[in-house]
Amino acid sequence: MLRDKAMSGLAAAGDEAALEAWRIEYLGRKGQVLELLRAIPDLPAAERPAFGQAANALKGELSAAFDERAQAVAQLKLAAELAAEGVDVTLPGRRPQLGRLHPSNQTLREIYGIFAAMGFQVYTSPDVETDEYNFELLNMPPGHPARDMWDTFYTTTPGLIMRTHTSPGQIHAMRALGPNRPIRVILPGMCYRYEQVTARSEMMFHQVEGLAIGRHITMADLKGVIAEFANQLYGAGRKLRFRCSHFPFTEPSVEADVDCILCGGKGCAVCKYTGWLEIMGAGMVHPTVLRNGGYGPAEWSGFAFGMGPERITMLKQGITDIRYFFGNDLRFLEQFG
Ligand code: PHE
Repeated sequence: MLRDKAMSGLAAAGDEAALEAWRIEYLGRKGQVLELLRAIPDLPAAERPAFGQAANALKGELSAAFDERAQAVAQLKLAAELAAEGVDVTLPGRRPQLGRLHPSNQTLREIYGIFAAMGFQVYTSPDVETDEYNFELLNMPPGHPARDMWDTFYTTTPGLIMRTHTSPGQIHAMRALGPNRPIRVILPGMCYRYEQVTARSEMMFHQVEGLAIGRHITMADLKGVIAEFANQLYGAGRKLRFRCSHFPFTEPSVEADVDCILCGGKGCAVCKYTGWLEIMGAGMVHPTVLRNGGYGPAEWSGFAFGMGPERITMLKQGITDIRYFFGNDLRFLEQFG
């Protein structure tokens, strides 16, 4: 009988697609139930009312059964989905991946701490600089040969460049914090140089500049501060030496070395068998630079220094390639922290 066949077919329809196929088969416009109703005019007149009633009753019954089954199937589907997404509370937990400070930032924080204890505040200045601040105000007019020490990234805007060192921050700090007031700041930040990238030199790196301005500051203060810093960062009892050097914005200029932290001065591959490691450039702020910052050199003097935290980190951690710092390789970064 049609009814039994339809009912058992409905009971077997287990998903939405099967249900839809069943609905088309029995209740659709060309389905079997409507075909029954369409056949009525062909019947003998006496049979029509009873047949029609029976067909309509079947249609109602199947529609109701369909709705019920559709609801049950939807519920089954939901139950299956919930079971699939279910949480197994007996599973062991997954350890969250913790981030950590970049090795450069770890060194930067160490440096901040050492200088903070000596009364230096952190002062930041822009990465994008003008030729005026990066060179001219630092005693390097256009065409000055010393500019060759800093290969520069220029922008499409004339006079606007990426800073090649943090020294322009000296002028910013003096102009912002002075005049007629002593200054003790460190200026950390990124520097950019148009250079061949190799294991030893990157096109971008950090520097930490230091600047102290006061009424009676001498070279002895510079030596004292750098000695204290070197002992704190590289270990107590470090030997320190100052070599004569030249920067247009300091006079006199020096470069500071510590005895090699790896071989203790005996000579090894890291110190290239000299026994010494260069740690920074420094010097007494040039009178022209003081004046450009708004300080009269007759009354005021100061010292400045600049160092590279990546170099420091390489020495302390035995890292042999500076390119790791900005290579974003987790295998490298995960080793620090
Ligand atoms: N700016 C110099 C450099 O990039 C370093 C330096 C800073 C030297 C301050 C002297 C004083 O090489």
